[in-house]
Amino acid sequence: MRIAVIGGDGTGPEVVAEGLKSLTAVSKKLSFDYVLKNFDISGDRYLASGGDPNKQSIPVIDDDEIAELRTFDAIYLGAVGHPKIAPGILEKGVLLRLRFELDQYINLRPVRLYPNVPTPLKDKTSKDIDFIVVRENTEGIYTGMGGVQYKGTPQEVSTQVNCTTRFGAERAIRYAFDLTRRRNSPRRMLTLVHKTNVLTFAGDTWFRAFHEIGQRDYPEIKRDYNHVDACCMWMIKNPEFYDVIVTDNIFGDIITDLAAMIQGGLGVAAGGNINPRGVSMYEPMGGSAPKYTGQNVINPVAAINAMSMLLSETGNQKSDKKLIDAGNRIEQAVMSVIAKMQSQNAGKMGYATTQIGDMVAEAIKKA
Ligand code: IPM
Ligand code: MN
Repeated sequence: MRIAVIGGDGTGPEVVAEGLKSLTAVSKKLSFDYVLKNFDISGDRYLASGGDPNKQSIPVIDDDEIAELRTFDAIYLGAVGHPKIAPGILEKGVLLRLRFELDQYINLRPVRLYPNVPTPLKDKTSKDIDFIVVRENTEGIYTGMGGVQYKGTPQEVSTQVNCTTRFGAERAIRYAFDLTRRRNSPRRMLTLVHKTNVLTFAGDTWFRAFHEIGQRDYPEIKRDYNHVDACCMWMIKNPEFYDVIVTDNIFGDIITDLAAMIQGGLGVAAGGNINPRGVSMYEPMGGSAPKYTGQNVINPVAAINAMSMLLSETGNQKSDKKLIDAGNRIEQAVMSVIAKMQSQNAGKMGYATTQIGDMVAEAIKKA
């Protein structure tokens, strides 16, 4: 297995280093080989190469880097975001570019509250919070279609197009039905989240695709629908209600931040940008956290969980049982270490970043 590593900005390289400790430990345990290659793709490099911090002036990733990244089995990403670079440049230049060019059309976000992790939801425990969000990752308002006219005048007009295709909705929906089948939870339910009462064109494309595909190809899976605003209410009031959620790009972006909070915050939440037949990229949900950079206080659990996902999902894609097992072992080890942590917040964990990474690796070794 060949893994491309992009530490990225801020605390990204620190947390990635901890995730790699788990990879080393589990590969020894199960005796499999892997090759890593580091890519220096970051805001610092952009600035050092003469990039304009206020508007994109040079590519943040080179075309030949993209070509090379296509040859890996998976990408492990730390964080994107630099305090000296205007918002949008790195997000579009790194994250969105990779998602689009590598056609990572699924953003997969498991939402699981591990035992001993506090949730802000009163009276909810780990048995109540265990669902997964499948976010469409290449369309919607993320395509950049639209524009601005008469900028800077009182007549300024801007549009941001919600580009929705049957093809894009359908492949996300199929992925989500397959995943619901694979999870095989007692609920066996897929919830479509959209806003069909207002987005009567795009919402309708999703709604019809969802029911047609479900009825024809996944009749045993219960189909459920929530408007996105109602989903935010239910996720707080009755998170135990959800099994798998499938949704459009921007709605998925928003509800997964809400979901990250109920599972204990950005210190633990991980996600995958998945192309089921291509190169997928796994990352902790948190950003580059400039104020914690270089202090050995950031929580690496999310990045370690991202490594666990990388292995399990790559295993699923390649039908490789050993890799699936490797991912599960990292998750088990994380759970055992979480039980010893004082908090999941940076600087309050009771341990340094590097200690948490060592403890997880040790737990893998001993298991
Ligand atoms: C995420 C992030 C990105 C998104 C940003 C950084 C472009 O918020 O992965 O959820 O909006 O998709
Ligand atoms: Mn987001």
